[in-house]
Amino acid sequence: MKEFSELNLSSAIRSNLAKHGFVTPTPVQAQAIPPALEGKDVVATAQTGTGKTLGFALPVLQRLVESQGKPGTGNIRAVVLSPTRELAIQINETFMKIGGNTGVRTAVVVGGMDESRQLRAIRAGAQIVIATPGRLVDFLQRRLVDLRGVNIAVLDEADRMLDMGFLPSLKQILSAMPEGRQTLLFSATIEKSVSHLVESSVRNPVRIAIGAITKPAEHVDLHVYEIEQGHKLDLLQQLLRNQDGSFLVFSRTKHGADRLARNLERTGVNATRIHGDRTQGQRNAALAGFKEGKFRVLVATDVAARGIHVDGIAHVVNFDLPQVPEDFIHRAGRTGRAGLRGIASTFSTRAERSEIRRIERALNVKMQQLPFTANAASMAANAKMIAEAEIREAVEEQQQSARAAAPTSHVVRKSFVAGVGAKGPSSKKPSFGRSASGKSTGSKPANKHKKVGGGSAPWRKEWRSAGPAGGRREAVTV
Ligand SMILES: Nc1ncnc2c1ncn2[C@@H]1O[C@H](COP(=O)(O)OP(=O)(O)OP(=O)(O)O)[C@@H](O)[C@H]1O
Ligand SMILES: [Mg+2]
Repeated sequence: MKEFSELNLSSAIRSNLAKHGFVTPTPVQAQAIPPALEGKDVVATAQTGTGKTLGFALPVLQRLVESQGKPGTGNIRAVVLSPTRELAIQINETFMKIGGNTGVRTAVVVGGMDESRQLRAIRAGAQIVIATPGRLVDFLQRRLVDLRGVNIAVLDEADRMLDMGFLPSLKQILSAMPEGRQTLLFSATIEKSVSHLVESSVRNPVRIAIGAITKPAEHVDLHVYEIEQGHKLDLLQQLLRNQDGSFLVFSRTKHGADRLARNLERTGVNATRIHGDRTQGQRNAALAGFKEGKFRVLVATDVAARGIHVDGIAHVVNFDLPQVPEDFIHRAGRTGRAGLRGIASTFSTRAERSEIRRIERALNVKMQQLPFTANAASMAANAKMIAEAEIREAVEEQQQSARAAAPTSHVVRKSFVAGVGAKGPSSKKPSFGRSASGKSTGSKPANKHKKVGGGSAPWRKEWRSAGPAGGRREAVTV
């Protein structure tokens, strides 16, 4: 298949593809779509950012259009499972783009968001449910969904879905579906540890492996800096000063992500953060703000490592090393997508040297070692800004809790607040020579970020017009 037009697709899907600039399939699409359209099981591995989503969304939609009006149990005909809520929401966007005017409807079923809306969408006749396993199992156990009519199951990030954390829920979900269903498994990585589980969830699958699947995407330059823990913030700031574009920075822990994002903000960088301890509203706002360019830096745990597509992220930073080599591939793969180039920089302490070698061996790559010279003056300036901001924040916090603890009478509250040395919200804050918000205007707006490089395959050229605008894992929750 050289062009989507060669496929026997519904006219609505055809025109949706054209409308969104999808003309030439990517290699994984060219190989996965025809057998998937025939109803075969597919296990596909292809590098990050090479269009796997459309590789399953298109056949699912086309098959549902073809089966419309046929009798079955319940409405739900297809279930797409994703490891994170944000990814489920993003996958739904692709289904909506390609499924417009087909009469096929979707429902997103994820935790942390209003369940009554999700149930309304299912009851209104959604044939495709795009879900995270936890919420879907919950609905199943409460008998709020019926999966007995499901003909197609898709596991995006299949290896992640099949690993220990998700497996019990996944088994329950799959066993609620008919055995004869079609199963489609997609990921950039399927490590050996889950290959037996892959075998048990598919039947005579067509196997597709594009590129060197154990390698990071080819459009990502891999850099490594050996650095002391205490110098990492300074190095990140140097990179932010010297390079254009938006940065996705990975932290190992939720607490670390909070601290780093706050310290970036305190030193004048537009930064936000996403991790599992934030409310879904905060998570959505952080990702949306990063996509819109409101924030130049998104600090994230591995909750953002898989599948998330943000146009033109220039730089991924492993502020902390990933837990397993596969995570390295997925993290690095948030840049260098859709034919663009990107950089993935890894900050490693001397003690972590052997970890770096392990990643290099596992992925069969050599990272470029780059020098770093700590800038004593800028480190001191940062430390001062952070300390000042901490004092300012502590004072604000104290004022806030004093206000919250005060009796509701206006007169009494006023005198109480005055009693702790302030006059209320509009009072002059302690001045440390910077604005009260701690933000400077120094950071560049994300929409001015340069997009870099490109490839030569025909579908790579079309990338630019497509899209919205034209080892062992420790039990760490992210
Ligand atoms: N045939 C195509 N032509 C042009 N652009 C495409 C095509 N297919 C997909 N894209 C675009 O490529 C980008 C990346 O696609 P997608 O998110 O599906 O990658 P992926 O392979 O799932 O990556 P990951 O492994 O990180 O999940 C999206 O912006 C998408 O719109
Ligand atoms: Mg994907």
